[in-house]
Amino acid sequence: MRKKIVAGNWKMNKNFSDGLALFSEVINMANDELHNSQQVIVCSPYLHLHSLVQLNKGNTKVALGAQNCHQAEIGAFTGEISADMLASAGVQYVIIGHSERRQYFAESNTLCAAKIDIALKNNLTPIYCIGETLQEREAGTHFDIIKTQLAQATYHLSAQDFVKLVIAYEPVWAIGTGVTASSAQAQEIHAFIRKEIAWQYSAALADEISILYGGSCNPKNAEELFAQADIDGGLIGGASLKSRDFIDIAKAFN
Ligand code: 13P
Repeated sequence: MRKKIVAGNWKMNKNFSDGLALFSEVINMANDELHNSQQVIVCSPYLHLHSLVQLNKGNTKVALGAQNCHQAEIGAFTGEISADMLASAGVQYVIIGHSERRQYFAESNTLCAAKIDIALKNNLTPIYCIGETLQEREAGTHFDIIKTQLAQATYHLSAQDFVKLVIAYEPVWAIGTGVTASSAQAQEIHAFIRKEIAWQYSAALADEISILYGGSCNPKNAEELFAQADIDGGLIGGASLKSRDFIDIAKAFN
């Protein structure tokens, strides 16, 4: 049975004290209200991570993730954070290839491949983000785009490593816009992703991979999205900044 996951991507929101307060609420609500085996992940800014790991001690319902890491092991890369630093601070997950990093920091599929490698080497679970822009969907190239994003960043991995990934499908046109992909649109792409993985590796391996949906997911639409056969949870932006909304989304599995 593949893991059901709700991951919050705080992006560049919440100063240090507000972040600690939000995370405390998330832990308390998760412990009180989540009765199934869903994994909740909070991907905060780097600055907060170590303190959030400390606050989270002894708690297995919630895990911490970073929003990015550098592709090199160590070295003269001013302002960057390594996968080893994250892992050594108790972080378990790392988002790789978010569309905002692709758009504003020119991250390519090949760079994502290197980041996935270094994350895996350091025992971090990559949450690899893929998804098409509105122009690409309108041009009918979205399946090709997704296929390429998968192939160039992940198909060099052995089956043993690939199975450690979490994939997030985030149509760029649905991020922060309030426009959610319909559950049918999302399911269509998730099924396509799983089929591609099955073709490249095996059906058994594809069946093990959690594929999350991201893009204007909220407590109102989560239940229908998560009920789709190939949608194993969500990567949540805006709604993860409100503890009540975030936990209500995680409860959509209950
Ligand atoms: P929103 O939920 O704010 O649309 O953001 C989605 C996202 O980018 C998560 O990584």
